[in-house]
Amino acid sequence: MDVDTGTDDAVAIMAAALSPDIELLGITTVNGNCPVEICTENTLRVVDHIGVNVPVYQGCSLPLSATLTPGRKPNIPSIEPSKIHGHYLDLPAASSAKQDVTAAEWLIRTYLESDGDISLVPVGPLTNVAMAIRQAPKILDKIPEIVIMGGGHHVANCTSSAEFNIWVDPEAARVVMNCGRPIRLVTLDATHEALFTMETCDALKEIGTPAAVCAAAFAEVRIAAYDKAQPMGSVGSAPIHDALAVCAIIKPEVVSTVYAHVDVETTGELTDGRTVVDIDRSGDRGRRPANVHVALHADEGLFVEMMLDILSNEM
Ligand code: BDR
Ligand code: CA
Repeated sequence: MDVDTGTDDAVAIMAAALSPDIELLGITTVNGNCPVEICTENTLRVVDHIGVNVPVYQGCSLPLSATLTPGRKPNIPSIEPSKIHGHYLDLPAASSAKQDVTAAEWLIRTYLESDGDISLVPVGPLTNVAMAIRQAPKILDKIPEIVIMGGGHHVANCTSSAEFNIWVDPEAARVVMNCGRPIRLVTLDATHEALFTMETCDALKEIGTPAAVCAAAFAEVRIAAYDKAQPMGSVGSAPIHDALAVCAIIKPEVVSTVYAHVDVETTGELTDGRTVVDIDRSGDRGRRPANVHVALHADEGLFVEMMLDILSNEM
């Protein structure tokens, strides 16, 4: 997993670490919801909290190039803590430490040495993944699938056009989207159909495991923030975006996808960072072949059921 932990990344990490269907080999961190050092500390806090032994590798502290054009992006997108994530997660300070090698180095080494059977699950800006691909394109032969949380077709959350993970580093997203490997893109359209409610939080607290109680606490923070700033259809609910991508690895039917051409806008004044999804293929000019399985819908009941089940596990 590649993460920018973050409240929903935290829940996603716990799900991946505790699911019997996933062997979580390592976690790389990237600048996004928080500066990368804080994302790393938060990631270590989460793995310590559930007692899982997964190596954590720190990655890029800035997007590839998006901050170089004056006025285009702030240097650290989340220098002000957001209401949805805050900066440091409300967990004890980490006692474990990050690894010495960088995220891109570890991704390259791990993929080159692999049998080509390791899924890559980025749920933050795609800077580390693009770095690794640019540095060692041969890793592409060894990546069976990339399952990304990012982008949106009818839904945006950062500008009127763009989703946060893609908006932070559009050039990196463009490298990844055009890498030629199978990609599933779990968009905001899908994650906004897979909400946790206050009832979900109550059920998690009832389960009572460290992961479930922690997920409930983070979900409650998210619900309060979403109710205020980005209300969903019903009051008292919020998406847990990144966890849906993890569930899609375990049970692909938790999302429904269309196969379409996807690219990323990197120059638009109003549309910087938009995932441009060629869904309506009725015209015939300038059409490019499909490259991404785009998740536009989700099965909320199945998602919540899976999460309650997985988070009831302990190490
Ligand atoms: C994505 O942006 C981040 O804030 C979340 O962690 C998620 O990965 C949703 O747009
Ligand atoms: Ca994230």
